[in-house]
Amino acid sequence: MLCMKRVKILPIYLFGLLLFSLLICIQLIMFKENSTEDIATNSENTTLIWWTPFTLSDQYIQCGNVHCFVTNSRHLKYRDNVAFLFYGTHFNVSDLPLPRDIKIWGLFHEESPRNNPLLNHELTLSLFNYSSTFSRFSDLPLTLMYLKSLESLTSHEYYKTFEEKNLLNLSEIVYIQSDCDTPNNRDSYVKELMKYISIDSYGACLNNKKLPTSLTNALETMMSQELLQLVANYKFSISFENAVCEDYITEKLWRPLIAGSIPIYLGSPSIKVSPLKYLNFI
Ligand SMILES: *[C@@H]1O[C@H](CO)[C@@H](O)[C@H](O)[C@H]1NC(C)=O
Ligand SMILES: *[C@@H]1O[C@H](CO)[C@@H](O)[C@H](O)[C@H]1NC(C)=O
Ligand SMILES: *[C@@H]1O[C@H](CO)[C@@H](O)[C@H](O)[C@H]1NC(C)=O
Ligand SMILES: *[C@@H]1O[C@H](CO)[C@@H](O)[C@H](O)[C@H]1NC(C)=O
Repeated sequence: MLCMKRVKILPIYLFGLLLFSLLICIQLIMFKENSTEDIATNSENTTLIWWTPFTLSDQYIQCGNVHCFVTNSRHLKYRDNVAFLFYGTHFNVSDLPLPRDIKIWGLFHEESPRNNPLLNHELTLSLFNYSSTFSRFSDLPLTLMYLKSLESLTSHEYYKTFEEKNLLNLSEIVYIQSDCDTPNNRDSYVKELMKYISIDSYGACLNNKKLPTSLTNALETMMSQELLQLVANYKFSISFENAVCEDYITEKLWRPLIAGSIPIYLGSPSIKVSPLKYLNFI
């Protein structure tokens, strides 16, 4: 697994997280021995503890019919009806809420296991009653979390024909990357390719073209209209994930597809390409 650390928080994570919390809460409620009638009165004691914090702390969220208290406060583990949430990157086997008792554990990780190699092991994954990860096999998969909608893929909002692109007198290929030290060493591939074909590189990596200042905060503008318009000017986009992991698919793939630029992809092996489709596209 060659996956890079990425640290960012997007609203969509919150959406996934809320759904995931809901799953955990429902389980908590079902697991409770008391009848469902006293759920309402006990609701303030349904507690989700981020053992390794990620987001949302010290607030109530709606879990089905009840409120759950989400917190980073580990000392609340002595309450009734507690479940533990772990953010995968920070999961640490030397630091766990033991004894296990009957507690429910949930794993939330939109990143690849490169951030925490322990998560490559079945044994580690079997510790969790529920998981929400990029893998389609998790309880609440986040595999497509970076894809806004199916319509965005078929929409012609950003589309330019090859003739229009030719008039712009740009390189054929665009590369926009600011993480230049990935374990899969994607930059070395691009550097070699640059010897044979002109590539416009706007990011910090192998930079040869100035990114408009409005786009310099790449994380916030990852899917902005402006960035999509820029990508739309190019026939091809180098779309290399920093990780080659099954189902680990990020905006790197969706961005060019939405912009109408052909991705040159390295990432999840589950992505399959039909060459004929691309011929029609051109
Ligand atoms: C909630 O927990 C507190 C402290 O642990 C306890 O005093 C209280 O009775 C509990 N409330 C309900 C409705 O179970
Ligand atoms: C894991 O937890 C142990 C015990 O608290 C701590 O000593 C160690 O530094 C932690 N490791 C990491 C990578 O945080
Ligand atoms: C949660 O998982 C643990 C470890 O696999 C297991 O012992 C426990 O019974 C599970 N609890 C529930 C409520 O599923
Ligand atoms: C196109 O770009 C090349 C190199 O970037 C430059 O030499 C050439 O003059 C440009 N042509 C036009 C029509 O702008």
